[in-house]
Amino acid sequence: MKKYAFGVLTLLSFSLVAQSKNTPVEDQVEALLQKMTLEEKIGQMNQYNGFWNVTGPPPQGGETSDKYQNLATGRVGSMLNVRGVKEVREVQRLAVEESRLGIPLIIGFDLIHGYKTISPIPLAETASWDLEAIQHSAALGAKEATAAGINWTFAPMVDITRDARWGRVMEGAGEDPYLGSLVAAARVRGFQGEDLSSPHTLAACAKHFAAYGFSEAGRDYNTVDIGLNTLHNIVLPPFKAAAAAGVRTFMNSFNDLNGIPATADKYLQREILKGDWNFDGFVVSDWGSLREMMDHGFARDRKHAGELALNGGSDMDMESYIYLDYAKELLQEGKVTQEQIDDAVRRILRVKFELGLFEDPYRYCDEKREQAVTGSEEIVSGVLDMAKKSIVLLKNQNNLLPLKKEGQKIALIGPLAADKNSPLGNWRIAAENFSAVSVLEGLQSYPGNTITHEQGVKLINKVPAGFHEEVDINTTDKSGIEEAVASAKDADVVVMVLGEYGFQSGEARSRANLDLPGFQQELLERVAAVNSNIVLVLMNGRPLVLNWADANVPAIVEAWQLGTQSGNAIAQVLYGDYNPSGKLPMSFPRSVGQMPLYYNHKSTGRPGADGEDAGSVFWSHYIDEKNSPLYPFGFGLSYTSFEYSDIRLSAPQFSKGGTITAQVDITNTGKYNGKEVVQLYLKDHFASATRPVRELKGFELVELKAGETKTVVFSIDESLLQFYNGQGQWMAEPGAFTAFIGSDSTTKRSAEFSFN
Ligand code: NOJ
Repeated sequence: MKKYAFGVLTLLSFSLVAQSKNTPVEDQVEALLQKMTLEEKIGQMNQYNGFWNVTGPPPQGGETSDKYQNLATGRVGSMLNVRGVKEVREVQRLAVEESRLGIPLIIGFDLIHGYKTISPIPLAETASWDLEAIQHSAALGAKEATAAGINWTFAPMVDITRDARWGRVMEGAGEDPYLGSLVAAARVRGFQGEDLSSPHTLAACAKHFAAYGFSEAGRDYNTVDIGLNTLHNIVLPPFKAAAAAGVRTFMNSFNDLNGIPATADKYLQREILKGDWNFDGFVVSDWGSLREMMDHGFARDRKHAGELALNGGSDMDMESYIYLDYAKELLQEGKVTQEQIDDAVRRILRVKFELGLFEDPYRYCDEKREQAVTGSEEIVSGVLDMAKKSIVLLKNQNNLLPLKKEGQKIALIGPLAADKNSPLGNWRIAAENFSAVSVLEGLQSYPGNTITHEQGVKLINKVPAGFHEEVDINTTDKSGIEEAVASAKDADVVVMVLGEYGFQSGEARSRANLDLPGFQQELLERVAAVNSNIVLVLMNGRPLVLNWADANVPAIVEAWQLGTQSGNAIAQVLYGDYNPSGKLPMSFPRSVGQMPLYYNHKSTGRPGADGEDAGSVFWSHYIDEKNSPLYPFGFGLSYTSFEYSDIRLSAPQFSKGGTITAQVDITNTGKYNGKEVVQLYLKDHFASATRPVRELKGFELVELKAGETKTVVFSIDESLLQFYNGQGQWMAEPGAFTAFIGSDSTTKRSAEFSFN
């Protein structure tokens, strides 16, 4: 590999195309485009991985030989996984100071939930239903990542998902398109801020376009076959919301959708995204997804893959190097057009100009800032705050929680109790391994009680070195159970920390079982046999099957993977210094056989009251399990209690252009101050295409002091009734509706209205 010496250079020598603040971006893009050769244009459409962390099989063939050389000759538009000011400056210098036109690189990175300081996994953050907090969390991540040279994140993942077997549920906002849309927009706003050219903000990327979350059987990368009804009503809304929030890039998905690999899907990318939605940013492929069209059996060879992808609307090729190798030939043969290439390059340059990269390609390369910002107090306290807000209290029989702060003997048990790695989750590329505060450490910061700690069983046999390694679950060694049981016998309260290892969810981590892995269930049952005063703290990246625990354990706390400050957040919740208010963004099943499971299902021609005698066996159900989840979407408890009044509607009907309001009074009837997510669901009784049994259409996070009452008012207008109907139109159809308002998706509190 060639070596280059990096000297100190003046701004003047950077490039032929320094950005001028006064010239509109579009003019600058056009002027630059005019100067570019075909090779230089194609170079912009090529994205290289850095020198670390390959998230897929390495490419075969193609111009992979000398990345440095290609950078210096303008054959690379973007890099991913280059990080840290030193590295970024190095590659940027090659592009800017060596290549003919000096076009800066856009530096991409999977900033999914925190850069070095890790915030809760996105599924957990969504459980806060706190859009401001979610936006702020993204902004803090952006602040830390941009200080390390990054100017583009491959987030948010806005894939709606109904199948907990899919490992990437941790990375999204769960099962609901309404909540998912608001969270998508909040994350985009957080990452991109008000001003994309600020050195503290970066370009966001809505991914994976589209329907990746619907991969069959929850198996990652698997085929997706869904109709237009589900595509438009469920899958697309969060993408549309991200586009409306101004997201500057999209990433397409690995899956084929109804027979067409998303990378080549003209309907999605050209018709809907760039057509109907007027999206003027660019679309990057997923890792090697151009090349994978050969494995899909859709492209005959690499060149054909390039033709399909470019025609399909993929502007930038991540790690297939196919545009680099074939775009010119394809153009000469008339298989792709000059307009298509120009359009792709224009989009890419536009975002680079907006980021201010032409004005100063090193604006994200300030070592002093990197040092000051990384792990700063502001970011650490931000992720702690987000972590507390993400916790969901699933059960609290006899008010076992909060724990007393003094005089208690606590037996802390479980393979995740002292784990400093798992709380970081799977996406933590820049974080130091083992850098999370464990539950043990969190509890130890409260000195009034005596804590004993027993692992009980190991969850895994060896710690995976990173991303690529399989998690080796311990299925042979139960030798620690006896000691754990002995410690429990003696304790006033047992805190058990069980769940999934940090690398058991995430990309390529689909599971066919949703139970507690390894010997954890056995450990739980053995401990419960000697001391029933158990607080079960769960750490997991997806919904789990928890029937036994629900029936036998008095207190259950869903603590997901909460990031760097995990143990502190959990301790503050267990001790009542923070009253939990999280609500589940996904249904928790009773059995893996219920997958896919979601609250906003259709009624079917044979609905029935779940668990009740339907009068015959011939209705839509299982003969060996209920239809309903164990814990429904939107569910979560508090240390206090809330009472709702009946719903008051301002009118029983409204027409096009009109509005009605639905309001409730909510009272904090317990003794703690607390927060409640008041949720509005609507049911459309009859339509030209079948409609879900109910759909979330509003929510408000209300803070109430003990004894306090507040009124929550929801406005209902036509937009909340609109859907992709039987004629393929997005519209509200006249008819009868029910509004439900309550504390989760099963609420029966309702009022009827009509729209005409
Ligand atoms: C593959 C993943 O699907 C995608 O989400 C990610 O951004 C890329 N790898 C880059 O790491």
